[in-house]
Amino acid sequence: MSWGKEFVELNKSKHDRSSFDCGEQELNVFLKTQAAIHMQAGISRTMVLPSTQPLLNQKHAICAFYSVTPSSISRETLPVHLAKKLPRYPVPVFLLAQLAVHKEFHGSGLGKISLIRALKYLWDVNHYMRAYAIIVDCLTDQAQSFYAKYGFEALCEHNGRIRMFLPMKTVEQIFSR
Ligand SMILES: CC(C)(COP(=O)(O)OP(=O)(O)OC[C@H]1O[C@@H](n2cnc3c(N)ncnc32)[C@H](O)[C@@H]1OP(=O)(O)O)[C@@H](O)C(=O)NCCC(=O)NCCS
Repeated sequence: MSWGKEFVELNKSKHDRSSFDCGEQELNVFLKTQAAIHMQAGISRTMVLPSTQPLLNQKHAICAFYSVTPSSISRETLPVHLAKKLPRYPVPVFLLAQLAVHKEFHGSGLGKISLIRALKYLWDVNHYMRAYAIIVDCLTDQAQSFYAKYGFEALCEHNGRIRMFLPMKTVEQIFSR
């Protein structure tokens, strides 16, 4: 199996959700049972990277996916030096709610590619609707190390998970070079 060039919006009739396995049951179940429903409800968008060749059922396997949604954080959760420059309102952010790679491709650079594509997607959205930062809620310590590698910093604990953030100004530095 090899991965295609572009992430596209999840389409149940074209993409085979049942064969996806990233090794984390929660993320597998989200893709299989919730992602499409959440999109239909208008609360998040899931982008998938299909395989180049279709499976026997004519659908394309999902090599990686990410889900994004607008969100907000309390100003008080930010480091003081950042918070003091912001008004006393909830701070708009983009939540990178899910990101996972099929386990067949772990360690081959697709996690990095998927994260960069997700950041670029949100950077493009930011041209139309501004957000202060991108946040992620880490499922595991390994996920936290993965995001830390790319500049995400721990923000607070949220529902038993470590919430990390990457300021949009940092994202701007990546894509405005
Ligand atoms: C985390 C995940 C997306 C990484 O994907 P991947 O394709 O294996 O990662 P890559 O091969 O692109 O690795 C990119 C870099 O991250 C590092 N990395 C990969 N997995 C890591 C992990 N679990 N912990 C720490 N660092 C990790 C690699 O060493 C590599 O660094 P290098 O460029 O210096 O060599 C993948 O393991 C996955 O889908 N895990 C299950 C779902 C999950 O935990 N998602 C996190 C969101 S909650």
